[in-house]
Amino acid sequence: MTGGGDCPGLNAVLRAIVKTADNDYNLEVIGFLDGYEGLIENRYRELNTKDVSGILAQGGTILGTSNRANPSHYPVLEGDDYVYLDRSSQGLRNFESLGLDALIAIGGDGTMAASAGMIDKGLPVVGIPKTIDNDLVGTDVTFGFDSALATATEAVDKIHTTAQSHHRVMIIEVMGRYAGWLALLSGLAGGGDIILIPEFPYDIDAVCDAVKTRNALGKNFSIVVVGEGAKPIGGKQVVSRTVKGSPDPVRLGGISHQIASQVEDLTNIECRVTILGHLLRGGSPTAFDRILATRLGAEAVHMVAREEHGQMVAMKGNEIRSTPIKEVAGKQRLVTPDHPLVKTAQSLGICLGVPDGVPLKESVSEEVAR
Ligand code: F6P
Repeated sequence: MTGGGDCPGLNAVLRAIVKTADNDYNLEVIGFLDGYEGLIENRYRELNTKDVSGILAQGGTILGTSNRANPSHYPVLEGDDYVYLDRSSQGLRNFESLGLDALIAIGGDGTMAASAGMIDKGLPVVGIPKTIDNDLVGTDVTFGFDSALATATEAVDKIHTTAQSHHRVMIIEVMGRYAGWLALLSGLAGGGDIILIPEFPYDIDAVCDAVKTRNALGKNFSIVVVGEGAKPIGGKQVVSRTVKGSPDPVRLGGISHQIASQVEDLTNIECRVTILGHLLRGGSPTAFDRILATRLGAEAVHMVAREEHGQMVAMKGNEIRSTPIKEVAGKQRLVTPDHPLVKTAQSLGICLGVPDGVPLKESVSEEVAR
């Protein structure tokens, strides 16, 4: 089953699972629909090799997904509000009555946290990491990230030309929740002048100084790439909505409008905002993500065959490894001040939102330290 926010590469991993199960082990595969919802409500479909033929390059997931369905904290609508019930036993009963050997849970930290709860109750789970945020611990990379990075980079490239024509400050906001990987890497790949990420709270004066310095050098436009979780020093992240029934109900987004109005006021230079949002989750996976998803999917089936339950398949460098799901659940892999790409950005003179000569400090806010 595929859980949490979708991303490019989910169909590629489903295809790899079904083909490996068939070719190497003659195992049958069924797919639960809409993440853990399908397990609890016994909604599933058979997945044979014909079903997964031709889906390698397709975005989304043929199984559907949900980011609300944690079996032990399962939202049930009562009137206008949700009440939360522990429905894990129902999930186990459905699993057993179908005569299944293992559940392959493809997801991000929410799905891994839900899986950790089910493992405690006896469900044999093998995890596969995915997310455009790249924030799962225990693996160096998640599939979906490279595709989202390619989309973000293309957007930054395109915005460059209009920024130049109009001599504006263009602010491009990318997803990533509490992690700045997508903003940092698309900022670097797209030649951003200022990159603001959740891990390092920014000083708006440092941002304006960077813009003014560029103008003084005759570069009368600036590109600012902002992670949706960025926030000013001593300030708060901007919440775009709260999603009832979701285990992590906060949805971030909109900080770039705040930055644009402040930069415009303080520099007198026109600003425009582009929020890339869910565009980053769509489209065909890159070659890198297709290969990663294919490797992880095949390996997950080998792990099922070896009965390596409770483990998440992971990448360490170019090697496939595995890591206990329980060690992954509830944690986030964030950008640290000493990360080589942060150093590279600094060497290139990219403004990371702190005044020149001031060392970067990691945010210790509640949101990021969750
Ligand atoms: O975790 C993936 C992600 O796309 C985040 O980058 C973003 O903050 C969130 O999901 C958006 O969630 P939703 O699909 O509920 O709007």
